[in-house]
Amino acid sequence: MSQESKGSGNEYVTLQDHSTGKNYDFPLMPGSIGPKVIDVRPLYAQTGHFTYDPGYTSTGSCESKITYIDGEEGILLHRGYPIEELAEQSSFLELCYLLLNGELPTQSERQKFEATITNHTMVHEQLHNLYRGFRRDAHPMAIMCGVVGALSAFYHDSTDINDPRQRMIASHRLIAKIPTIATMAYKYSIGQPFVYPRNDLSYAENFLHMMFSVPAADYKVSPIVSRAMDRIFILHADHEQNASTSTVRMAGSSGANPFACIAAGIASLWGPAHGGANEAVLDMLNEIGSKDRIGEMIERAKDKDDPFRLMGFGHRVYKNHDPRARVLMKSAHEVLGELGIENEPLLEIAMELEKIALEDDYFVQRKLFPNVDFYSGIILKALGFPTSMFTVLFAVARTVGWIAQWKEMIEDPSQKIGRPRQLYTGYTQRPYVAVDKR
Ligand code: CMC
Repeated sequence: MSQESKGSGNEYVTLQDHSTGKNYDFPLMPGSIGPKVIDVRPLYAQTGHFTYDPGYTSTGSCESKITYIDGEEGILLHRGYPIEELAEQSSFLELCYLLLNGELPTQSERQKFEATITNHTMVHEQLHNLYRGFRRDAHPMAIMCGVVGALSAFYHDSTDINDPRQRMIASHRLIAKIPTIATMAYKYSIGQPFVYPRNDLSYAENFLHMMFSVPAADYKVSPIVSRAMDRIFILHADHEQNASTSTVRMAGSSGANPFACIAAGIASLWGPAHGGANEAVLDMLNEIGSKDRIGEMIERAKDKDDPFRLMGFGHRVYKNHDPRARVLMKSAHEVLGELGIENEPLLEIAMELEKIALEDDYFVQRKLFPNVDFYSGIILKALGFPTSMFTVLFAVARTVGWIAQWKEMIEDPSQKIGRPRQLYTGYTQRPYVAVDKR
């Protein structure tokens, strides 16, 4: 393959088919930053071949203006703003506005948006009955998949994807109601009554209130805890075309309604290679139990005959520190300090594990660094969350990213139904054999 400029100044990549000696030119498309992409849309028509890329390791599936990641440098930008600055200076709801609308809100836009979200946090009362159909010991993520999928049956006045107003209403409803739905899943699983949202609380405070308060006692939300919660939401809000976001886009590409698409995203997020990793990290740290067992776990992670992987390590895109992990590590120390949790053994094991892994050739050569899930579980544990809620929290925060990406896709005139091709390696055509002849 060669790269050259032709005629109009447009750049092309030339692909040579050695079997025929023919050359084919494919245009290079530039983004605003980041590597150019090869436009292979005419590939099959011109060459009669498809590309083969399981796991989409080299495939750009869409054009997007929402989030940019430079995995080599460890950079994450939302609408151009660095994640570190957003985590330090912004709030989760302001970030929601930014992701959805493209710009930071003015003071009045911000107030209006906050009021809209705050005033739509209640769910249809009938939805309560849906929860009662689940077993009490159901995993909250299992309940989330079901309940969010059912939302289109409750809010069908915002399922016309071709109406921009309905698209925005559905987006606001999802961001507003997802904390209520998530905390109800938890309350149901522990046999406590559902707690209604309160409009005088911020997004993070309200989430904590619905999660931890009970009718029998006063619950005061700690400002330390609510600030940490808001920051965790910010750090998980969007991450361009990851597995769950791509799932949302793929589901939505057929014209499915937004509630069904977000339910699909939740299902994809649940896996331990994706959002389920934060729960798995804590399980792993508990299993390690003490610093002297770290070496043994590192050896297991390196052993190709052992399926065990160091959870919270490695990333498809980051081949450097995950910038979210850096913010979270700092936050973990601050939160534990402010909450007076000295010498948290799991944090100590995590830090030692990180130190040993970052010096080990296996991890260095493969550029495996701690990712966002490595430290988030420790903070969530310190804030009082049970491990079964960790991935649910990820889903609450990621809902805005999913819906912003879904909206962008629907509004993109070049959008097509997602329909990859395959390399078929099964039987070639053969005649049917009657059952008595098999
Ligand atoms: N522990 C041990 N070895 C690892 C790990 C790990 N955590 N991650 C990757 N490797 C090895 C892997 O075995 C392979 O080695 P080799 O080249 O010798 O075959 C090499 O590193 C490349 O790994 P890969 O599986 O080809 O990389 P991928 O881009 O397909 O997978 C990943 C990325 C995140 C799924 C993977 O690193 C992983 O399973 N990590 C643990 C789970 C985790 O923490 N997931 C959270 C991801 S970040 C948040 C999110 O997306 O939700």
